[in-house]
Amino acid sequence: MHDLGESMGQDGLNSRPPVWARLKGRILSPLGILLIVGMILLSGSVLFVSHGTIEARGFCNTCHTAYYDSGEYAFNDKVGMKKPAGILTGCAECHPQPYAEFKRSAHFATQKAARRPGCPNCHNEPHSIRDWYAYMYWQPAAWTKVQLAAHDDVVWEQEVRPDLAAKARTKFAKSNSGACHGCHSEAAKTWRADIKAHKQAVQSGKTCIKCHFNLVHGEVPWPDKDKQ
Ligand code: HEC
Ligand code: HEC
Ligand code: HEC
Ligand code: HEC
Ligand code: HEC
Repeated sequence: MHDLGESMGQDGLNSRPPVWARLKGRILSPLGILLIVGMILLSGSVLFVSHGTIEARGFCNTCHTAYYDSGEYAFNDKVGMKKPAGILTGCAECHPQPYAEFKRSAHFATQKAARRPGCPNCHNEPHSIRDWYAYMYWQPAAWTKVQLAAHDDVVWEQEVRPDLAAKARTKFAKSNSGACHGCHSEAAKTWRADIKAHKQAVQSGKTCIKCHFNLVHGEVPWPDKDKQ
């Protein structure tokens, strides 16, 4: 229906064609929503929904032109981690900056491609389908900020990223960095037990994220790290 590439460009917000305004009015009208819900129900089981998960590459394309290759950051199911439920695709469309940084990271550039994590390997409590639906149709405050930040690096760096980094870190800390353990283990020979800091970590029970923050994405200070 509308082209993300077109509306997400540098000056995307200003250069939206009037046709988008008309289209948006129509998509968001009660009839439009009914039609779309009907469409989802009809094509749903076949097209993209299985076990409460949406991850098919073409899912976002049913309404937009997604222009990143979701295969680059898809869940890696070959490393023995449990696949979470929820939205497992479209990460790069909504989080373009973290995606670009991921592509420059050691986790992406690794020679061990079979063990390369996708976003939902590390972020294993992804957005629910309900949240995604609310983002698209009800525009809660959290979404309008992220939507704006996807077009504007200054808003992203100053207003949105610090908040989201804090949320993500809290999740890692609360889960005892479960996602990291899921791929870095002695069994898989991806855990260096011989490093001095790791010996200390095992003794003290310090969790991965407390030493390995700013791992993949841009730097965000974490002054109250030891209070959590
Ligand atoms: C059933 C139709 C539908 C599907 C499927 C859909 N969207 Fe949307 N999307 C919309 C509508 C309607 C809007 C306009 C609402 C708004 O501006 O917030 C929108 C807006 C957006 C925007 C804001 C565009 C801009 O220029 O600011 C982004 C980003 C977005 N969607 C990403 C996604 C991603 C990623 C997926 C796949 C996970 C997806 N959408 C799937 C209907 C859909
Ligand atoms: C339709 C847009 C959309 C898509 C698709 C999307 N996100 Fe998000 N994401 C958001 C919004 C909005 C927030 C802010 C939520 C909040 O503040 O509660 C967010 C927040 C986050 C956060 C920080 C907060 C937290 O709870 O950890 C992470 C990490 C994240 N997303 C990762 C992902 C990953 C990984 C994917 C792909 C599997 C993804 N997102 C797909 C819109 C999206
Ligand atoms: C799906 C598997 C997977 C997951 C999940 C994962 N990693 Fe990795 N990690 C890798 C691979 C592959 C490499 C690159 C190894 C190489 O090339 O030798 C790597 C490299 C690293 C490195 C060394 C490179 C660097 O950037 O400093 C650290 C540290 C690391 N991981 C920590 C973590 C932490 C902490 C987490 C959890 C937040 C995590 N990893 C989650 C697979 C994973
Ligand atoms: C007390 C701090 C600390 C904790 C906690 C910690 N690490 Fe490390 N880790 C380090 C240091 C220091 C290095 C060495 C960095 C270097 O020299 O490049 C390292 C290196 C690594 C490497 C790269 C090893 C290699 O092949 O060279 C990986 C992968 C890694 N850590 C994963 C993890 C994971 C997964 C956890 C949680 C289970 C964890 N670390 C917990 C401090 C820590
Ligand atoms: C190897 C693990 C790993 C992978 C892979 C990964 N992330 Fe993250 N992500 C993190 C960690 C750790 C944080 C917490 C902030 C920090 O310390 O860097 C984070 C934070 C975030 C945030 C909060 C804002 C920020 O910049 O800190 C978003 C949004 C996010 N990730 C999205 C993504 C998306 C989208 C992908 C895939 C394109 C992805 N992540 C891949 C580990 C990962």
